[in-house]
Amino acid sequence: MTTLLEAKGLEKRFGGLKAVDGLSLAIEAGELHCLIGPNGAGKSTFFKLILGRYPPTAGTVHFKGEDITRLVAAQRINRGMSVKMQVPGVFPELPVWQNLTIALQSHFSGAALRREVDRLLAFVDLAPDARKLAGNLSHGQKQWLEIAMAVGVTPTLLLLDEPTAGMSPEETWKTGELILDLNRQGMTVLVVEHDMAFVRQIARQVSVLHFGKLFAQGDIDTITNDEAVQEIYLGKGHHAH
Ligand SMILES: Nc1ncnc2c1ncn2[C@@H]1O[C@H](COP(=O)(O)OP(=O)(O)O)[C@@H](O)[C@H]1O
Ligand SMILES: [Mg+2]
Repeated sequence: MTTLLEAKGLEKRFGGLKAVDGLSLAIEAGELHCLIGPNGAGKSTFFKLILGRYPPTAGTVHFKGEDITRLVAAQRINRGMSVKMQVPGVFPELPVWQNLTIALQSHFSGAALRREVDRLLAFVDLAPDARKLAGNLSHGQKQWLEIAMAVGVTPTLLLLDEPTAGMSPEETWKTGELILDLNRQGMTVLVVEHDMAFVRQIARQVSVLHFGKLFAQGDIDTITNDEAVQEIYLGKGHHAH
């Protein structure tokens, strides 16, 4: 196994709060890794540190063996990262096909661009809705459009922050199948997720974050049977989202 992504002692402080607190985590090439934890655990902040949205206050990030800690997001994307953040980033006033075209146009042009847009529309089952304005899609379809926009550049590492937030059980299951399919195609995927049924559907390796620290790590059965994890993750009246 080759380590694709490695965070070492990663820290992000917001004033007095350490949202990410000395986190070390390695993702192997080809893995489908889920990051879970209660609201406020630091999952989204960790994603933003990996993508380079913010500089860390301490620690390093290595990607493909290279220290990328000081690189900005665009440089990391050029090296093979792609992300779908928690808040959808589609252009609601533009048609579906045009959203995809915009996402892909730095990588493809002409007939290849049109072919790639068509392939992705089919992959996420949006071909019949290609001419709809993205703003008129259902919630689940918007999320799929965004996944298509993120994977069109065939990233080495796909980062998904709560891809199923607000989805129906059926949409959630379909999203899981899409992610499994991408992973089978060779993409390494790191998913932040709340929904344990969904994590069970897709994950092999699971890391649990709590107060910005790595609290537990293991396969899905080990994690769901861990009493301390149940306590922090399911306890204290925690509800998804
Ligand atoms: N930009 C920010 N400024 C100040 N505090 C923040 C900021 N982003 C996140 N936080 C705080 O950091 C902690 C972790 O947040 P976040 O990473 O969004 O958690 P999660 O995604 O696990 O729910 C929370 O206490 C949150 O309020
Ligand atoms: Mg979050």
